[in-house]
Amino acid sequence: MNIAVYPGTFDPFTNGHRDLVQRAASNIFDKVYICVAENSKKDTVFSLDERIELAEKSLVNIDNIEVIGFSGLLVDFAKKLDAKVILRGLRVVSDFEYEFQMSSMNKKLNQDIESIFLTPSESYAFLSSSLVKEIAQLGGDISPFVSKEVKVALEKKYK
Ligand code: PNS
Repeated sequence: MNIAVYPGTFDPFTNGHRDLVQRAASNIFDKVYICVAENSKKDTVFSLDERIELAEKSLVNIDNIEVIGFSGLLVDFAKKLDAKVILRGLRVVSDFEYEFQMSSMNKKLNQDIESIFLTPSESYAFLSSSLVKEIAQLGGDISPFVSKEVKVALEKKYK
């Protein structure tokens, strides 16, 4: 079975994340685990449980996926899930250095796991969780960028 993990902070999960999971799960992998990082270096607006719940609610109707929280090293978690691939999105050139460093380090930590990158669909190339949060905080309309559930949750946070 061809299993991938798709790790991230997902604070919060966006339509760009959904697009990537959908393409990966329908065309490339038998199973995709969306792995929500607990102790990310970033300060998050949403708790781990909230981030998991919002990802799940944004991903209804896709069968061969599962959302799980994790802490500790990603490569160890991927091994536990029997995944041979770490899937990441690569949007713009500025993503590259960070992704290159992470994938090289993950490869050093476990040579059996490959990192694979998907570019976003054109309409999501500019989208990021941080921009969505900034727009929500300033009262802008985020409905084109996130699920209904995420929109409501963000509006509640910034009320
Ligand atoms: O969405 P993000 O913040 O870019 O995701 C970063 C994430 C969660 C993929 C990365 O921080 C991670 O893999 N954390 C788990 C801990 C780990 O394995 N660190 C070593 C990475 S080389």
